[in-house]
Amino acid sequence: MFSTMFVGINAQSLQSPDGKFEMNFQLKQGIPYYNLKYNGNVVVEDSKLGLRLFKDTAIKFASEIAKPEDAKFDLNNGFTKTEEKRDSKNETWQPVLGEKKNYINQYNELAVTLHQDATDRNIVVKFRLFNDGLGFRYEFPQQKNLNYFVIREEDSEIDFPTDMKAWWIAADYDSQEYQPQTTKISEIPARWPNSFDSNASQQMVPNAVQSPLMLKKEGKDPLYVNVGEAAVLNYPASHLEVDPVNFKFKTHLTPDRQGAKGYIQTSSVSPWRTIIVSPKAEEVLASKMMFNLNEPTKYTDTSYIHSTKYMGVWWEMIIGKSQWAYSTAENVHIGVTDFSKLTPNGKHAANNTKVKEYIDFASANGFGGLLIEGWNAGWEDWFGHSKEFVFDFITPYPDFDIKMLNEYAHSKGIKLIMHHETSGSATNYERWADQAFQLMNKYGYDAVKTGYVGDIIPRGEHHYSQWTINHFYRIAEKANEYKIMVNSHESVRPGGESRTYPNWISAEAARGTEFEAFAGNNPDHQTILPFTRWMGGPMDYTPGIFQTKLDYYFPGDNRFVKTTLVKQLALYVVMYMPLQMAADLPENYQKHMDAFQFIKDVAADWDDTKILSAEPGDYIITARKAKGTENWFVGGITDENKREYTVDFSFLDKGKKYEATIYEDGKDADYINNPQSYNIYKKQITSKSKINFKMVRSGGFAISIKPVK
Ligand code: NOJ
Ligand code: CA
Repeated sequence: MFSTMFVGINAQSLQSPDGKFEMNFQLKQGIPYYNLKYNGNVVVEDSKLGLRLFKDTAIKFASEIAKPEDAKFDLNNGFTKTEEKRDSKNETWQPVLGEKKNYINQYNELAVTLHQDATDRNIVVKFRLFNDGLGFRYEFPQQKNLNYFVIREEDSEIDFPTDMKAWWIAADYDSQEYQPQTTKISEIPARWPNSFDSNASQQMVPNAVQSPLMLKKEGKDPLYVNVGEAAVLNYPASHLEVDPVNFKFKTHLTPDRQGAKGYIQTSSVSPWRTIIVSPKAEEVLASKMMFNLNEPTKYTDTSYIHSTKYMGVWWEMIIGKSQWAYSTAENVHIGVTDFSKLTPNGKHAANNTKVKEYIDFASANGFGGLLIEGWNAGWEDWFGHSKEFVFDFITPYPDFDIKMLNEYAHSKGIKLIMHHETSGSATNYERWADQAFQLMNKYGYDAVKTGYVGDIIPRGEHHYSQWTINHFYRIAEKANEYKIMVNSHESVRPGGESRTYPNWISAEAARGTEFEAFAGNNPDHQTILPFTRWMGGPMDYTPGIFQTKLDYYFPGDNRFVKTTLVKQLALYVVMYMPLQMAADLPENYQKHMDAFQFIKDVAADWDDTKILSAEPGDYIITARKAKGTENWFVGGITDENKREYTVDFSFLDKGKKYEATIYEDGKDADYINNPQSYNIYKKQITSKSKINFKMVRSGGFAISIKPVK
């Protein structure tokens, strides 16, 4: 590492360790720009960097319209370079839970100090160039003229030279639960108004999209590009404004009610902006760059963090067969209402009898966890009333015996998974969190599913604004104090932060299986999510629905899960999830115990992962090696098109014999007309074997492989 004062050098250039990428930084008339080349070809053209600030920290509610004289507070012009520092790293680290045993973090780094002469302030722009792409961020050192500031906007541009195919969802400050759209960059504005349905909490950002954003330069030398952000801490999540003429994107941070986008005290840093690039889609999926850009954990004990497969008293509520609420009351007061005096609605699922049945089934089939939703008082009016004191997270409904059920579960090797639906009332959750986690410790729960349905309280905050993001991390840290793992729903999407906060083991933060029971997911949905939402961390997608047609429960109901049964199995391999759910009802698994065997066998934590073949929106074939064993699992999924794929087992150890159990779509299977048709057979294989699969429309295949002793 060296540091130099320099004069007269206009551009700084940085190469990736393998020499394939080159990043160039330069000031043009005092304005910072960077570009990116791959194998000598321009991937990102000269793109501007910088931030605009409010003129002081006393923001007046919604009244701060930018005045020309405010521009002098911006950190986007009038710079001279005063220092350049270079560094590099090549380390291997072990995620607590992950897709591989070892993650390799190898990069070359350039940090340029920029001095704004007019205001006598310094910022640093730091670039890290990996073999799979570029990360850059701003650093704000503490200094005389920069102690506190408020961000009006971050204007980091990514300017692509050509129009590309894009897989995107519409930008929203509060939700990511949208169907992915597939268009050219230039077509985004035309599609945008029709790209989303309604959500319980929603503030759309016109002509902007969310990240991670997946892009592809089509043609004879295809290039796959993924745009995201990593280490989003004490800072809002960002969206990407689209310039459809220049194929350019620009950051758009999530504001608070005052229109401010981040209250900063120096020294501090921005999140990393990430651009992953490869000629192979498989290598994009394999990239761990977003995790590498996060700091190692400071947790002193991570031994309590583990992977689990779980079932839940859940899907029956989602589809409307039973309810979270216990009574017929419409207006209840936590701490005042005597729930035992209310009239039961007769549909409360989290009752002693039913929970015991689920425990019996989950235990008999080797699961580790059982999620119980609707166990606590308050669900009668939990939603849509901006009710701050909505739950206390410690008072069970009268028909849920928390002590007895936990003892019963433990006696059968099951841990109940706690559910804390906050209804968006984050203030209330913070008030109760200690007591809530103490209750969990007392009864032996070690994982909690949190939820943030509806608008956030404090009112005016968004799900992705700075305050709320800080809330999510306060909860993760507090959960760590109590040795509790967190799986959050309706939270901000991850950007690799599980490296630092390994007990926040998963999040939903996208359109999951539950939407199959609402407005539906398209058959290509699961072939896109790994390229977008999954890039920064696992998603609680909740697969495993065998009874895909809901008219089974409600004659005439035309809702259905748009996959074959076998594709549901394949999702356990394709979708990495350390807290992996089998979401369907026991009665539906009971009818297909032969297929259910795959879910019982499949691992949830891995020593190795090979993306065998993938194309966003079309198909993904993944092989993974289970943690601490010689067992492999392979999953293949396709979109609305039937497809053939031949698995080449050369990833297996040479000279070893394995027994493969193969689950494939039946010849007559079809996700609409015959989703439950499948074949299962066993076959001896070696690393020289190949097996051809015919996946039907929205079908797939799954294989479990064990060495023969
Ligand atoms: C939405 C979550 O995604 C779902 O899983 C949960 O059951 C409901 N909220 C109720 O908390
Ligand atoms: Ca497709």
